[in-house]
Amino acid sequence: MSRCYEMEEPELEAPADPPATSEPKAGPEISRRGFLKAATAVGAGVVAGLPQVARAQTAAAAAASKPVTMPITLSINGKTHQLTVDTRTTLLDLLRENLELTGSKKGCDHGQCGACTVLMNGCRINSCLMLAAAAQGAEIITIEGLEHDGKLHPVQQAFLDHDGFQCGYCTSGQICSAVGMLHEAKQSAATFTDADIRERMSGNICRCGAYPNIVAAVRAVQSMSGAGAL
Ligand code: FES
Ligand code: FES
Repeated sequence: MSRCYEMEEPELEAPADPPATSEPKAGPEISRRGFLKAATAVGAGVVAGLPQVARAQTAAAAAASKPVTMPITLSINGKTHQLTVDTRTTLLDLLRENLELTGSKKGCDHGQCGACTVLMNGCRINSCLMLAAAAQGAEIITIEGLEHDGKLHPVQQAFLDHDGFQCGYCTSGQICSAVGMLHEAKQSAATFTDADIRERMSGNICRCGAYPNIVAAVRAVQSMSGAGAL
């Protein structure tokens, strides 16, 4: 049988009756020495390989940090944008940092608060969870794109009329989410109760607790003719 270190097999012969109190017999000296030599050789090999491992890790880190870009085309608030984006850029960061559309807010950046809600092809999404590259070809509407010809969107007006905010940090996300939800109601010919509105808006957190007025605003818009228009 092959071994990874030099070792002599001890002669196996039936021992003469050992004394009852004898110490365990030590193994052959050569085996210990052979083992130590082999272990030293393995250790030296590992140490010799460490600089190569470190170099490989450094190269991998450098490659990972090097931005990879790609061209995309997006419609944002009715205007076509041709952009070259870092493939790691989120839609939220693209809007805020590259296009200066800062109405969409960054709250948690983890899809948990809804402050970054925008409409993509008519559906509400958390823009912090959407890579800009993945939105290639999409039609995006942000809070800045809801008003038309200087006239607020009915949901924007209703938030003002019903005091649907306090600090206002969540408000752009709440409004975009409400616009998307009313669009969903229109498409399914449904009328949402207050409980439905609360449930369907539950992804939008308001730390100020303006929920009763937000629901009142959404309810008011739902009762208008033409509700659900984007
Ligand atoms: S910032 Fe996107 S969900 Fe909170
Ligand atoms: S109005 Fe302040 S977080 Fe909603």
